[in-house]
Amino acid sequence: MRDLVVTSALPYANGSIHLGHLVEYLMTDFFVRFQKMRGGRRVLYFCADDTHGAPIMIRARNEGITPEALVARYHAEHTADFASFGVAFDDYHSTNSPENRAVAEEIYLSLKRNGNIVSREIEQTWCPKDAMFLPDRFVRGVCPKCGADDQYGDSCDKCGAHYEPTSLKEPRCALCGTAPERKSSRHLFFRVADYETALRAYMETDALQPEVKNFMATWLKDGLKEWDISRDGPYFGFRIPEEEEEKYFYVWLDAPIGYLGTAKHWAEARGQTLDSLWRNESVDIHHFIGKDITYFHTLFWIPTLTGSNYRLPARIHVHGFLTVNGEKMSKSKGTFINARDYLAHLEPEYLRYYYATKIRNSVDDVDLSLDDFLHRVNAELVNKIANLGSRTIGMLNKLDNRLGRVAAAEGAMLDEMMAAGEEIALHFDACDFNLGVQRIARLTDMANEFIDAAKPWGLKDNPDRLREVLTAGINAFRLITLYLKPVIPAFAAKVEAILKIGPLAWNDHRSLLTDHDIGPFVRLADRIEQKQLDALMEAARKAGEETPTTATPKKAEPSTPEIEFDDFAKVDLRTATVKTAARIEKADKLLHLTIDVGGEERSLVAGVAQHYTPEEMVGKTIVIVANLKPRKLRGVTSQGMLLAVNDGTTLKLVTPEANMPSGIRVS
Ligand code: 2FM
Ligand code: ZN
Repeated sequence: MRDLVVTSALPYANGSIHLGHLVEYLMTDFFVRFQKMRGGRRVLYFCADDTHGAPIMIRARNEGITPEALVARYHAEHTADFASFGVAFDDYHSTNSPENRAVAEEIYLSLKRNGNIVSREIEQTWCPKDAMFLPDRFVRGVCPKCGADDQYGDSCDKCGAHYEPTSLKEPRCALCGTAPERKSSRHLFFRVADYETALRAYMETDALQPEVKNFMATWLKDGLKEWDISRDGPYFGFRIPEEEEEKYFYVWLDAPIGYLGTAKHWAEARGQTLDSLWRNESVDIHHFIGKDITYFHTLFWIPTLTGSNYRLPARIHVHGFLTVNGEKMSKSKGTFINARDYLAHLEPEYLRYYYATKIRNSVDDVDLSLDDFLHRVNAELVNKIANLGSRTIGMLNKLDNRLGRVAAAEGAMLDEMMAAGEEIALHFDACDFNLGVQRIARLTDMANEFIDAAKPWGLKDNPDRLREVLTAGINAFRLITLYLKPVIPAFAAKVEAILKIGPLAWNDHRSLLTDHDIGPFVRLADRIEQKQLDALMEAARKAGEETPTTATPKKAEPSTPEIEFDDFAKVDLRTATVKTAARIEKADKLLHLTIDVGGEERSLVAGVAQHYTPEEMVGKTIVIVANLKPRKLRGVTSQGMLLAVNDGTTLKLVTPEANMPSGIRVS
């Protein structure tokens, strides 16, 4: 059998892993674990963080840290989350690595030598204040179609229209609010059309699902456009070699090259070469990706690899998106669930099991129905599968822990269960995990029906027959565990320990475990309670309130116009002491304060009730705008306004560093 290099798409290094991502990483992990269990070939699973690009650079800048520090933080988070979910990479690297830089440069220079790279001037949106070209997502303005305000540079959330950034009305830089300008710059383009023949030939292979071939055919009909692979600085990425000006590779050029960068990292750490993996006829490369990035992995990636003489993927497995309860994941509904929040409430293998019951080789979306999740895990994994082990092993523990022989009466059932291994292997190999798990579920029913009919609990007076029945039952359980091992490896490891056997390999389904001592049973799985799911959704809702809904910037505050000193001098800022404080009925954000300002008592309404109790306020020295025109808030007159620092989450009063009497001028 040929060796396998398997990859999952590289997650961006500025966001947490969520249950949507996990569809892909778990399905790839099922596939890889199954292939490793089959043995006879080298199987390597590679992935990395996708670290480059403007959003990551800007996010780091907003946090006041370097992009490298941001990337390092997410690398630690991602690797921990993947490990918790049992996703077992052979190497999880980074696109911001020396290996990736070397491969990206090599590939680019090959394309350039082939004459596939052209350069020309293009006009783009430029923010004069930030001194940078703005990606479409960093320009906001009024939708040219429906007039909705605060829409992205390339599409409108309100009416769904897609348009050129130049047609957006009243455009503003999303970072600073300045009106952007148009500025021209020289860009480098990859003429992918030079590889149209290679693309058409690739479509004829069995590397792609039929739906994906259809997408490709439509795109090819529309014609292959030149692909802009360069970006101007400032940009977090790799400088393009042989260019005098500061030009960087567009993130989507070096992201998929990150598959090779990771392979190089893995190989060189072992005294091997990248070529031994990616230019080797006996290695098959399998990519797993979501349907949204099919374009990049076909129209751009196949020409990139062809032009640089690397092997093309033997298979590109494209999957659909995750829906939760039949809808797009939603922060406000508590269905946008991060891996970490899930882990705080539920066992990772429950999700692995449930996803395996749903995932097949298709671009159709996968639905996580939370009711169905609870029901299936409890009914199938806990009540049928784990319970089969619990009742048979528990009884043998009471007898003497000794497995005997399989009697003729049970031979046929076990033969069928052993033979099913071939069929399940075909399903897993084809990534039809749902069909594999369905077959396993039928085997489990058969084994439980056998135990119900044989009634071992009534065989106390016939220990020989009892041993036969339990030997058959435990062997059935061992086979079911073996078949589910790629899906629930931690469960399988516990069973291996109980049965005192080595790691189960796929071929072990051809034999039975007889005349063998086993160990005591340990609990394998607990039921999911509705309250765990409720708590998880509540946590997801809360997390959703704390984070912005997209990775792209929020609307920028318009920059405040400059003022003269005289304008500032008009504001009378003074210290004041809080004498009394009370809540205001039906206004949960407001407190009614009486304050002393240099001997004068005033009434003041302050929006601090969610951050300070009335008791905490009394006695504090605060700073107020003393000459603000009085106004009524919720029926209470406010003679001034207190100053506080508020970042949207935390609010802190502005107070003099040392205690000062009230009524002192602040300037
Ligand atoms: O869409 C994404 O999340 C990208 N970070 C995927 C990159 S996959 C590969 F090309 F690197
Ligand atoms: Zn700007």
